[in-house]
Amino acid sequence: MPSEIELINARMVRQEIESLTELLQDAVDSGASVGFLPPLAAETARQYWLEMAEEVENGSRQLWIARQDEFIVGTVQLSLVTKPNGLHRAEVQRLLVHRRARRRGLGQALMEVLEAWARAHGRTLLVLDTRQGEPSELLYRKIGYQPAGVIPQFCLSETGKLDPTVVYYRILDKL
Ligand SMILES: CC(C)(COP(=O)(O)OP(=O)(O)OC[C@H]1O[C@@H](n2cnc3c(N)ncnc32)[C@H](O)[C@@H]1OP(=O)(O)O)[C@@H](O)C(=O)NCCC(=O)NCCS
Repeated sequence: MPSEIELINARMVRQEIESLTELLQDAVDSGASVGFLPPLAAETARQYWLEMAEEVENGSRQLWIARQDEFIVGTVQLSLVTKPNGLHRAEVQRLLVHRRARRRGLGQALMEVLEAWARAHGRTLLVLDTRQGEPSELLYRKIGYQPAGVIPQFCLSETGKLDPTVVYYRILDKL
């Protein structure tokens, strides 16, 4: 069954908070480096989504979800730079696909939808970072992201090690 990808507003983020919480917990439990360490308490995840909803409300963040059979199985966000000299720039954050929906093109499809929005809104420079060696690196490279460099000791892993992160960017063609 193909997924439906939609851009949602702050009210919908709050309305879907339980599904989004489960999705974030699934990613953290799967060992992904997405800001939290396992086990991720539901309350901590909910608090995170409430903070994201505020930024969606004030216009500094765009948030997409992908549904399959009514369940949210994927999400991605774009954090918009609000500084006057960076209005062409945005950061891709929290690309998450539920373990049961991975390797079927959904992560790539979410990125394509996000990039179409970015292009249409003049956000022609996209940046992101991801832990070195993650499957996400293969995805970003496949769709045209360029590595800008590696930052050592960037994030704590569940094993207690400080892992390196790779910073990527992509310049989108203007419409
Ligand atoms: C990274 C993630 C979003 C990928 O989602 P996905 O829907 O499984 O990815 P796709 O099926 O769209 O994969 C697209 C391409 O990425 C690469 N890729 C993705 N996952 C891969 C994996 N586990 N192993 C090898 N290549 C992989 C492949 O090139 C793939 O193309 P192909 O299927 O034609 O070979 C998903 O694994 C995830 O949610 N991980 C946990 C959270 C995370 O790490 N997010 C990134 C934070 S920056």
